[in-house]
Amino acid sequence: MRRKLESSDGKLTHTEPKYERHPVVFMANECRASGRLGPWILKALQADPTFDITVVTRYTSAAEFPPNTKVVKVTDGYPIAEMIEVFKGQDAVILSLGYAAEHLHASLAEASIKAGVKRLIASVWGGNDTNKEAPKIFPIAAGKAKLFRELRAMETPGWSWTAICNGLFFDFCVTMGFFRCFDPEAHTAQIWDSGNVKFSGTNMATIGLSVAKTLAKPEETANRSVYISSFECSMNDILESYKKATGVSNWDIVHVNSDVQIKKATEAMISGSGDRMVAMGNLALASLAKEGMGADFAAEGLLDNDLLGIPRETVDETVARVLKDGL
Ligand SMILES: NC(=O)c1ccc[n+]([C@@H]2O[C@H](COP(=O)([O-])OP(=O)(O)OC[C@H]3O[C@@H](n4cnc5c(N)ncnc54)[C@H](OP(=O)(O)O)[C@@H]3O)[C@@H](O)[C@H]2O)c1
Repeated sequence: MRRKLESSDGKLTHTEPKYERHPVVFMANECRASGRLGPWILKALQADPTFDITVVTRYTSAAEFPPNTKVVKVTDGYPIAEMIEVFKGQDAVILSLGYAAEHLHASLAEASIKAGVKRLIASVWGGNDTNKEAPKIFPIAAGKAKLFRELRAMETPGWSWTAICNGLFFDFCVTMGFFRCFDPEAHTAQIWDSGNVKFSGTNMATIGLSVAKTLAKPEETANRSVYISSFECSMNDILESYKKATGVSNWDIVHVNSDVQIKKATEAMISGSGDRMVAMGNLALASLAKEGMGADFAAEGLLDNDLLGIPRETVDETVARVLKDGL
């Protein structure tokens, strides 16, 4: 038996329905090849029988979903009138939008309010929103700061939002050589600054689980960020895990300066020269591994793992697992 989100006099309260299931709309794809966030949230929600999930995808999308998934197709650009109809009758809307759709976030939040949805899980999935430094160097963090301002301005009785701050998509990043900083074949590593700055990271399945756990605690998670992590680690910690997983202790290590890396990446983003994805990745890494970014949620006293019942994991186990089996 699980809690249900319910509005009473404009406030979220708990009821304990025996047989009802949460209607939940989930917006993101389940493109099996993408390997990013959507599939993990869907998997966690589908494993929980208290949720009645509808996935929303665009007519133009190539996304594929597991058999027996309820899917609603919508128009590109998410026209608000159409989205209000899609959201009607749902307890919660979960947004996991790609960067190209993030400018539509406020309109989707408005549609959720007009449709009578009780909880919006915002498309945040990132770093420490209380830190003012990361948005100065990392455009995606600046975009998220704007989302928070919009969400706070929209707060209204009967409707509330939650942002899940999970730090780095950790095991996903290991599949990508951790922003190309670790090469387990060549046994080479690029370490930023001292390599000792710690930051939070969460594995993809755990991020998925955090959505179900957040929806199960509606009062405690209303109108705020919840912070989760699998662990806190530094680049040097990750290097040690790579050494253990590969059985090779003698790696070639290059140290780089984060300010120089930020300058180069910012110039590449502005001029459009070079690989913009690599430049953006370097800025993402800077927002974690540079001193002063507040990216270590445990040290900042922010973690909600205990509140939500989110398990802790280890860097050693995660790196070894990903190098052996992939995601
Ligand atoms: N913390 C981290 O390390 C980290 C890393 C990566 C991403 N993130 C965050 O996680 C969230 C999801 O990111 P993601 O990488 O999983 O997103 P994604 O795969 O790039 O996109 C998610 C979905 O957005 C929908 N979409 C709507 N309009 C679109 C458009 N014009 N172009 C492309 N897609 C569009 C698509 O769904 P349909 O095709 O089904 O319509 C798409 O599959 C974002 O908030 C992102 O900032 C965090």
